[in-house]
Amino acid sequence: MRILIKNGVVVNGDGRKKADVLIENDRIAAVGETLAANGAKVIDAAGCYVLPGFIDTHTHFDLDLGFTVTADDFVTGSKAAILGGTTCVLDFATPDREQTMQEGLDLWHQKAQGASCNYGFHMTIARWDESIRAEMRAMAEQGVTSYKMYMVYDGLKVDDGEIYAALQEAKQYGALIGVHCENWDVLRRRIAETKAAGILSPMGHALSRPAPVEAEAVARYMRIAELANAPAYVVHLSTAEGLGEARRARARGQEVYLESCPQYFTLTDDCYARPDGLKFIMSPPIRKAADKAALTQALHDDEIDTIGTDHCSFTMAQKSRGKDDFSMTPNGAAGVQHRGQLLYTLGVCEGRVTMEQMVRLLSANAASLFGMRDHGAVDANKAADVVIWDPDCETLLTDTNHAYNCDNTIYAGLTVKGRARDVILNGKQVVENGALVASGTGRYIPRKGYRALR
Ligand code: URP
Ligand code: ZN
Repeated sequence: MRILIKNGVVVNGDGRKKADVLIENDRIAAVGETLAANGAKVIDAAGCYVLPGFIDTHTHFDLDLGFTVTADDFVTGSKAAILGGTTCVLDFATPDREQTMQEGLDLWHQKAQGASCNYGFHMTIARWDESIRAEMRAMAEQGVTSYKMYMVYDGLKVDDGEIYAALQEAKQYGALIGVHCENWDVLRRRIAETKAAGILSPMGHALSRPAPVEAEAVARYMRIAELANAPAYVVHLSTAEGLGEARRARARGQEVYLESCPQYFTLTDDCYARPDGLKFIMSPPIRKAADKAALTQALHDDEIDTIGTDHCSFTMAQKSRGKDDFSMTPNGAAGVQHRGQLLYTLGVCEGRVTMEQMVRLLSANAASLFGMRDHGAVDANKAADVVIWDPDCETLLTDTNHAYNCDNTIYAGLTVKGRARDVILNGKQVVENGALVASGTGRYIPRKGYRALR
């Protein structure tokens, strides 16, 4: 199978040029001026950007919360992903605390069967002991070179010493540990206080988890990583104060990487006062306008390294569990389809982010940090995962005009610009003129150790 993408502007993390892209089988064979078709299928990309396939660093497909399961599994979630230009998701394999990591990995491989985009797994570490330590080698051999540890949630929360020990061990495999930074002990008391004060509506979610709940935890993680002499990766950073703590660690000379999510530079916490406020309940919560502004500036200043969606979707019926008590609401929202459009609209079109930065934030940095050597650039010999991005397109998002397996989106009412017009996955066209034309062809991407960004 050969495809020639003609007349587009190829954008990588470090520059752009007008060039054709020749794809042979599942690899990019050549990038150059006026390449000959020689029988290849020709796709005209005039007026479009040709970008490396996007990598979503943070999804939760088919996640069982105990009382309910996410609306999207790998089959539905990966279709939404690929329609938005995301050719690979890094989903969180989340074994129960008493399970081995191998059991978690095997289960997530099963869940991912039939995916329409490529996928890799971050492994959740919900306890630290000798057996988990010993499993890290087997994980690395199977292409799992990143982990997540939670400072929150019954059944997942680890203590500071466990994070310290895991960071020390992960270093020898070139593995990064992403930490969900919130102070669990304080936020649980604040939830009780908020409810005791008679606030049971969605606004109570934001009130119980204000910025210092995140910032204290980020500061603590920074110091734990400093003591372990290990790189730190903060998942879904949402506050200016948390950013400040990461800046302080960087100023001390620490290697710190930051992920944020589109919701934190798109929405503000007045959403919790809306009649559909339940759908915005996620952790960390949507923040204040000043946080949104600080994170947007941080995108511009290259202080944020990756953007993941934290896609964790629920129907409104599932969300309604919290209608009389915000703390009963399943946490999370859909987003995997709209990450590119949101960054393009609020970043590139507003002049805050260049196209090269967009590529770094959506693809190239994730490829480096998560050991995906064949991904993150449109270059000869790279994997043929490519997005043809049409900048001349506007879409009003609604609760129904998306591919999520749920009846809502937190972005309803927003007009977004640009779209993934065509998507090539593993050398085959899977999206054509915005429509899915092939499904179920996603592959597992085994990963190597991380490469430093700075
Ligand atoms: O509310 C959220 N984000 N749910 C998903 C789990 C997590 O905390 O990342
Ligand atoms: Zn998450």
